[in-house]
Amino acid sequence: MAENTHLQELESLRDAALQELESIPDSSGIEAWRVEYLGRSGKLTQVLRGVSTLPADARPVIGAAGNKVKVALEGRLGERQAAIVNARLDSLADDAIDISLPGRSLAVGRLHPSTIILREITEIFRGMGFQVVEGPEVELDRYNFEALNIPKDHPARDMFDTFWIDANKDAEGRFTTLLRTHTSPMQARIMEAHEPPIRVVVPGKVYRYEATDATHESQFYQVEGLAVDKGITFANLKHTLHEFARRMFGSERKMRFRCDYFPFVEPGVDVSIDCFNCDGTDNSCRICRGAGWLEIMGAGMVHPNVLRNVGYDPEVYSGFAFGMGPERIAMLKYGIEDVRLFYGNDMRFLRQF
Ligand code: DAH
Repeated sequence: MAENTHLQELESLRDAALQELESIPDSSGIEAWRVEYLGRSGKLTQVLRGVSTLPADARPVIGAAGNKVKVALEGRLGERQAAIVNARLDSLADDAIDISLPGRSLAVGRLHPSTIILREITEIFRGMGFQVVEGPEVELDRYNFEALNIPKDHPARDMFDTFWIDANKDAEGRFTTLLRTHTSPMQARIMEAHEPPIRVVVPGKVYRYEATDATHESQFYQVEGLAVDKGITFANLKHTLHEFARRMFGSERKMRFRCDYFPFVEPGVDVSIDCFNCDGTDNSCRICRGAGWLEIMGAGMVHPNVLRNVGYDPEVYSGFAFGMGPERIAMLKYGIEDVRLFYGNDMRFLRQF
């Protein structure tokens, strides 16, 4: 009977050990289990050692059964150890970096077309000895209008639909601050602060209180130019602007000057180049629409009143000035049909430059 009790003990030891083994998740648990059952003073080892104390006829039976349990436990132990190691290897493989995957490209920024053109324009004038300066976008009536020979109530103020700034008022209750409607006020600021000779170009943003359409925006860029010295004549103006047009639009370009009115110059002109797209030969040209000429800027000889306003003697000094819209120049150069694209932030447009 002792035999049967021993056999049952061995069986339940085996069952308990195997069941426990199945739920152990890691190698250290497995090792603890091995020590508990199969170690030198482990539960099964003790049973096997006890065999020698059994009656002689029971020893072979219990001994054999005990060895079978030992083999079963060791067998399953080996399988569980391998399974746990494999699971770890699998999860390491999941985390591994696959260096054969193509890289993810970073979105790279680019220059806005207005910036490209602005830089191109200022670079050309820099090559002719002009300095590049910038000025405030929030400007005083005094510089935007008065100093430029546009007094209060002058009809020329209608040329510039103005965003007034609700800050300071003069004695008559009129606003004195505005968003500059052109870069020309920098002419006065520069002349006020410096003695001739002066040669500057002023790129910058300007604002007009206007409904927008394909050719009008309420904000856009201008580049102003000013040269003042003794003995500057209209010939200097023509040469400088012709040189600019040839560098910007190609060495074949011809120029046309027509009388125009701007209060701060006398004489004043609008400046055109012959159409670089059709050379003036195509009645249905997409760029000049058959006109043959493209207006690119306003210009003129600085008005004596403007020189006087900044304390220069018009009998001693003379100068020329010009102002152009880089968006318009970019539209001509790249065949862009709608000025609103410049501020629409449509990536399909911006990516083309
Ligand atoms: N300021 C003028 C405008 O915004 C453009 C202009 C015309 C500038 C003639 C000049 C100039 O310097 O001489 O319409």
